[in-house]
Amino acid sequence: MNEDIEPILIGDVDDLEIGSVENFEHEEINYAIFRIESGFFATQGNCNCGERSLLSEADVDGEELECPSCGNTFSIVSGDSISDLDQAPLKIFDVTEEDNQIFLNI
Ligand code: FES
Repeated sequence: MNEDIEPILIGDVDDLEIGSVENFEHEEINYAIFRIESGFFATQGNCNCGERSLLSEADVDGEELECPSCGNTFSIVSGDSISDLDQAPLKIFDVTEEDNQIFLNI
């Protein structure tokens, strides 16, 4: 077990509908929290390119997100860029569920 991992309460499972995303700020860092059919996922909160868009404003389509500024698409599950392979992948973080609550593990 990695003792550096610190679970942070995000909220209740029911706070987020399937197919949606919300921003979660922790220690002045943004995270984008996604709920899709296969569960909860988290990526870095701001996109990589110069626009640094909030990914909580992304469109969610299945397991893909579409950046609200540049329109690039990324996998919500792996963080990999889909539409433009020159784009760096998004950082992803583990999200766990316990007692109807969701936790970010960073
Ligand atoms: S802000 Fe440019 S790819 Fe997202």
